[in-house]
Amino acid sequence: MPHPSPSLIEVADFTPSQIQSLFQAALECQKNPEALRFPQKTFALLFFEPSTRTRFSFETASARLGVHPLVLDGVQGTSLEKGESIEDTVMNIAAMKPEAIVIRCGDSVDLCSLQKATGLPMVNAGWGRRAHPTQALLDALTLQMQGRDLRKEKLLVVGDVKHSRVVSSHVQLSQKLGYEIAFSGPKEFLPEAGLRFEKLQVGLEWATAVMALRVQHERHAQSYSVATYREQYGIDLKKMKSWKGDKVLLHPGPVNFGVELDADVSQDPRCLILQQVSWGVSLRQALLAQILAKKA
Ligand code: CP
Repeated sequence: MPHPSPSLIEVADFTPSQIQSLFQAALECQKNPEALRFPQKTFALLFFEPSTRTRFSFETASARLGVHPLVLDGVQGTSLEKGESIEDTVMNIAAMKPEAIVIRCGDSVDLCSLQKATGLPMVNAGWGRRAHPTQALLDALTLQMQGRDLRKEKLLVVGDVKHSRVVSSHVQLSQKLGYEIAFSGPKEFLPEAGLRFEKLQVGLEWATAVMALRVQHERHAQSYSVATYREQYGIDLKKMKSWKGDKVLLHPGPVNFGVELDADVSQDPRCLILQQVSWGVSLRQALLAQILAKKA
């Protein structure tokens, strides 16, 4: 009997119980990273846009599974420089029959059509402004692995919400896993819909978990002042001192230290940024293992 597609293009591709099974598998991967081995298999990791955490975590996950990752890291040195399109590049790599394609690309690529055209499982590793499902999943996993009940979480996302693919995926994931989500930031950074707090302090009183986002300087060069943003929305130890309850701090990275976060917040035990990175490897390892198991 054919398996359903094990691809992950959007969080909406998975049911809540599939997500919880994935989390359980990620926990097993964290406990015993080399229990599952798939020698002589390959994954294509195609990063048409810059990445540190996501690319390295998929590479680490592949290594722990005994799988050989074939990595395309940027355009330089590839036939994209000669005018080949991303779609053609992907189709040619798919013809080499990797077990799956992990891809980071811009909005202009139609990932759903491309997945169908290749006939291979595809994992979205960051798709323009549209979606970054493995990031949202690893964030939720990080909270759950702190012993927190996601159905009681109120996640306040602070900053450049409008341009964030992580937020799009969290909006979908919050509906699957039952946590609440709200946004805080300057008016021009906020989306049209959803619970919004222009004043950070009011949002902080509502929240149980805070996720700061990178201010995308490239999009706001004219319209925003670092000093004003930092004063109104930046998170520092002084502000964290007044946090009540067991509020924690997340950030998907990369961080602009000195803008959305002060460097010293990394030392605070409520700052879970490096736990996010660590759980990101396990989550991606579990996802890749699931793809290999379904294909077997
Ligand atoms: N969070 C995230 O996607 O980081 P990278 O761009 O470094 O992969």
